[in-house]
Amino acid sequence: MRKLLQRGLGTAARLRGFDAPTVWQEFTPLAVKLGAVNLGQGFPDWPTPDFVKEELRVAVSANYNQYARSAGDVKLVEALAAHYSPLVGGGRKIDPLTEVTVSVGATEALYALMQAIINEGDEVVVLEPAFDTYPAQIQMAGGVPKFVPLELKHGKWTLDFNKLERAITKKTKLLLLNTPHNPTGKVFSKEELSFVADILQRHTHVTAVCDEVYEKLIYDKKQHVRLASLPGMWDRTVTISSCGKTFSCTGWKVGWAYGPQHLIKPIVLANQWIQYCVSTPTQHAMANILAKADKPYEGSASYYDYVCAQYESKRNDLAASLRAGNLLPIMPEGGFFIIADTSAYNPPSKYSEQPGPTGEVPVSRDWAFARWLSHEVGVTPIPPSAFYCKASAHQASKLARFAFCKTEPALAEAKLRLAKMKPTSN
Ligand SMILES: Cc1ncc(COP(=O)(O)O)c(C=O)c1O
Repeated sequence: MRKLLQRGLGTAARLRGFDAPTVWQEFTPLAVKLGAVNLGQGFPDWPTPDFVKEELRVAVSANYNQYARSAGDVKLVEALAAHYSPLVGGGRKIDPLTEVTVSVGATEALYALMQAIINEGDEVVVLEPAFDTYPAQIQMAGGVPKFVPLELKHGKWTLDFNKLERAITKKTKLLLLNTPHNPTGKVFSKEELSFVADILQRHTHVTAVCDEVYEKLIYDKKQHVRLASLPGMWDRTVTISSCGKTFSCTGWKVGWAYGPQHLIKPIVLANQWIQYCVSTPTQHAMANILAKADKPYEGSASYYDYVCAQYESKRNDLAASLRAGNLLPIMPEGGFFIIADTSAYNPPSKYSEQPGPTGEVPVSRDWAFARWLSHEVGVTPIPPSAFYCKASAHQASKLARFAFCKTEPALAEAKLRLAKMKPTSN
């Protein structure tokens, strides 16, 4: 297949490099084959909550089954505008019909936005490590990613704002910011976002795109701050989110974008020729789910408080299990992944010698470590080099990413297995 693709077969240049197997293609089947606890891919492995499922059943039975409005079912965009208006501050009343649009998950909102506003050769500033979708989507739109590293300093992921500003050129169209951040779990503080806002004020040709799919999963009583809520930033920012992470229904793929009309309109224009509209019953269901999620749930003040507390406790459990196995967690402030330092271990060379995703031998150390942990310990992480471009993948060499969006039994089994580990380095 790979050879056929390489020979051309009409595959467009915009898919260059896409035939290399992804990290998921190696590690998900490996976990299944070995019976390893799969802490790789980031999706909740428990049932979607009953109140969420019930709304979809009701919507289908009530015959909301035909095409929806292209920019989003009116009931859903109204619910989203009502939800986000108080959260973007400044007494703003978001216009549901012009300042909100619905997409096939956050992924497709990002895709449509890039298709809608990137011209050949335009640059997009991306923080690295980065969700692997971003560079692929930038390439498909004819753009060029410009990576700025998040650096580990004293156990914290930090952004050098001078480097960020230096990455901006005349060709820069977008600055992509993901908070809470995948894979690091970094939550950008108000102060950090104010620095970003200052940079944007100095470079008025740049639009900010904020991917906030983990917006409800913030720990240690930290606050989720939206760049769009800072002075002068509403008109400069598209904010994107979705239902999958918050409501444990990643397969529904209902996402949305909100922002000023001049930035939402291009997404709507692109979307009418991409998917035309998003599945109608899931949109109807989501509108009702948003209304219910603010109400008390399972002893918590709201569903959001409940789900956040559940995740925080899972994060703490997995962090303790990793520490017991001498894998040092870099504590995430949000989202559902922990990056851990694996320096205490030396994966044997046989795990480096099988070819990697692009046929390279030996594979990077983090890749070998993830294989070793799967085979020898029975726990599968993801090698974080998958979230770096080739030139900076070495930054991940002593790291592994573990997902904690897993059931208690899965996390308990991982704990037992990790506790048996003995350091091998020096
Ligand atoms: C940062 C980030 N953005 C977007 C997505 C995808 O969101 P959706 O499933 O709504 O397309 C993910 C999923 O892992 C993610 O981690």
